[in-house]
Parts: sequence; C-alpha cells; structure tokens
Amino acid sequence: MLLVTTIDDVRSALDAARAEGKRVGFVPTMGYLHAGHRSLMDAAVAANDVTMVSIFVNPLQFAPDEDLESYPRDLDRDSELCAAAGVDLIFAPDVAEMYPEPMWTNVHVSTVSEPLEGRFRPSHFDGVSTVVTKLFAIAGACRAYFGEKDWQQLAIVRRMVSDLSLPVEVVGCPTIREDDGLARSSRNVYLTETERGEAAALNQALRQGIEAIEAGERDPAAVEAIITAHIDASTSGEIDYVGVVDAASLIRPDQLAGDIRLLVAVKFGRARLIDNMGVRAD
Ligand code: PAF
Repeated sequence: MLLVTTIDDVRSALDAARAEGKRVGFVPTMGYLHAGHRSLMDAAVAANDVTMVSIFVNPLQFAPDEDLESYPRDLDRDSELCAAAGVDLIFAPDVAEMYPEPMWTNVHVSTVSEPLEGRFRPSHFDGVSTVVTKLFAIAGACRAYFGEKDWQQLAIVRRMVSDLSLPVEVVGCPTIREDDGLARSSRNVYLTETERGEAAALNQALRQGIEAIEAGERDPAAVEAIITAHIDASTSGEIDYVGVVDAASLIRPDQLAGDIRLLVAVKFGRARLIDNMGVRAD
C-alpha cells in the first residue's frame, strides 16, 4: 500500500492504473476510520482493481464553532485499517496541499442541500461539495463510495455528479450499526456512557416511523410526530430536526409516495448524532 500526500502523486498513480485498463475505486474520508468506512473500503476493493482512500479533515465543511481542531485523527491506525482492507493507495494531503490559496470557488448544490442539515449547518454542504468536486478532479474517472448514514450528503453528491457530468459513478453503501442499532460514526466517541445508552432511541424511533408508513400513514407530519415523541420520551437529547422527505430531492411532500427517507439529528452534550432510514410508500 502506498501513502501519498501530493495531488501530483495521486494523479500519476491513478492515471497509470487506468492506462493499464484498471478500474479505480475511491473512498473519500476524514479519517479516524471505523466499521462504516471498512464496509465502504470492502465494497470498493471487491468491485475495482485499484482502491484509493483519501484522509483529509476538510476545514471548509466546519463552521467556526464546530470541532475542526478536536476532530479525532490517527493516521497510523487508519493506515493499518486500510492495509488490512486491501486498499492500494492512501491520499493524505495537508491543508496547504489542498488549499494553497484562499478558495475563491465554492460549489453549491441548491434545493437538496438546503433543508434538514442545511438549516442547522448552513455552510457545511458547500464545504463538502467543494472538497468532493476537488477530490473527484484529483482522482479522475472512478467509482466513489459514500455511506448512506450521511444520506443528505449522498443525495447532494449524486445530484452534483449528474448536474456537472463528472466521470464518477457514485455508490451508496448501507449504514453500519452497533448491536443496539446506533449508527457507527467517528463522533460517537464524544458520547458519555448515559448518552450512549440513550442513543439507540434514534434508530428505534426511525423504525417506528417506518412501521407507521408501512401501515398506511401518508402524512409526513404524523410520521415526524411519532419519531419525535419516541426520542423525547427516551432520551435527554435535544432534537435539531426530524424529517420525512422524498429520498432524492429531500423535499417534504404533502402526501408520502415513492422512495421516502426518514432523517433525524439529535444533540447529546458534545455529540450531535444523525441517522436515517428508507422506505417505499406505494
Ligand atoms: O463524509 C465525510 O467523511 C466527508 O464529508 C467527506 C465526504 C470525506 C468530505 O470531506
């Protein structure tokens, strides 16, 4: 496995692989890898000839009051995990390599980036779209793997790739969960023991929402109320949002139909947890 830190080295390695007819898989990450990332790497390694993982804590997607400085980092451990997964190349640039000058370019994907997370973290998705566009430009033609846990991010990247005709096939991979249903996240380390016990309620609440839709409920507000009630009753967390929306556009319809996504964000002290699940309403 090769660890490179410059854009030129990534381009040379991946251009050479493509010149030999090899398919490139790409897993963009911010490091501190866990089982969720491992599932993305496994999917990439299984379906491609060469797999690259990028590890870059992207300052553009953190608001000034967020955890950029304290975001967990451990490149040695991440490298071991990548090697064990069969990854061929790690791209771990520093900020100066990615942003040698102040960025005058910003990628904004309208509509899908605006509700839910977009309301609570107004600059976050522009930071994500901008760095992902840049990473795609560096990686070149590839299949890129994203976790469904960050559903809104996945929907934004899909739309951005389609709108801009980027030479990337976006692959969404299922959320990896703990035994009690808590979605794996690098930020779970911030939970206290009590909060960790309560956090499983997010997944339980989403399941209750899905059961209601499967039983015929078609009013998104009624489903949101079921989810909210369970989280309020079972946790000390503060709900940022509960959304029951169209899975691709993230627009909340009057009546649920087609592919629906149920999304929540809850603040627990230092940790802010997000989770989502999907269902079809036919
Ligand atoms: O999901 C993440 O870890 C990040 O948002 C991403 C896609 C690597 C961009 O920095």
